[in-house]
Amino acid sequence: MSAPIIRQPGELHALTDAWLAAGQVIGVVPTMGALHDGHLGLVRMARESCDRVIVTIFVNPRQFNNPEDLARYPRTEQADAALLAPLGVDAVFVPDGALIYPPGHATSVSVTRITDELEGAHRPGHFDGMATVVTLLLNLTRPHRAYFGEKDWQQLQVVRQMVRDLHMPVEIVACPTTRAPDGLALSSRNQRLTAADRERAALLPRTLFDAARRIEAGEDAAPVLAQARAALAGAGFGPVDYLELRDARTLAQPQPGQPARLLAAAWLGGVRLIDNIAATLPG
Ligand code: PAF
Repeated sequence: MSAPIIRQPGELHALTDAWLAAGQVIGVVPTMGALHDGHLGLVRMARESCDRVIVTIFVNPRQFNNPEDLARYPRTEQADAALLAPLGVDAVFVPDGALIYPPGHATSVSVTRITDELEGAHRPGHFDGMATVVTLLLNLTRPHRAYFGEKDWQQLQVVRQMVRDLHMPVEIVACPTTRAPDGLALSSRNQRLTAADRERAALLPRTLFDAARRIEAGEDAAPVLAQARAALAGAGFGPVDYLELRDARTLAQPQPGQPARLLAAAWLGGVRLIDNIAATLPG
């Protein structure tokens, strides 16, 4: 049975008031729509561990630093609702822009330091827009748990930092990246790759897995990372915005023996792909 599509906070609160009064655990999966198996994995995880599941769909203009990317972002509400129908979601919250950012809206949430580099350096304003809308969506849905994909690793760490710093009463649950059979991380932006680029795109995860294996086997990280960047550039990716090994939680320089993450963002035929995997410097 398909879940009700809710557009107004009043309707949403009528549901969540009843659920909270009954002592039920609410999970929320915030999305920008154009749902794929990665999102559905988050929903299934929420479904398994919460009494009630809300999926939010809102293409947040404030987290797009590139107007063309915003204009081209797929909007597929009907198809999204059809994908959610068999999953037992209790509500799909689809607010419109004027509800989220009414005239006179003047508040922004800004997480510092952890947002300075990587995505933050290449997408000015992105994390402020993301942190602001996530705060709004959590305030509107009032969940006990919120589910985020590891594919956006820096986003996940920013959300965790924000929730810690602001004592927000929500548990952040991370879900592993869902990959296509050739290894490419699922993303709504993959739809924009040409057939030839879609084939080539699998080189991004392959390069990351190869670099991680070499680093974990004791090779010096700097030349391995430089070779990985060159391999992508040589295969037609361009530009490679970054391909870096960082501490998994703080995203500062990695320390031997501590959990680290190999993160990359690279353009392919005008589409920006990001990915990340675990890779620890030997202790
Ligand atoms: O990861 C996303 O899809 C978005 O950044 C989020 C968390 C839904 C906020 O707009």
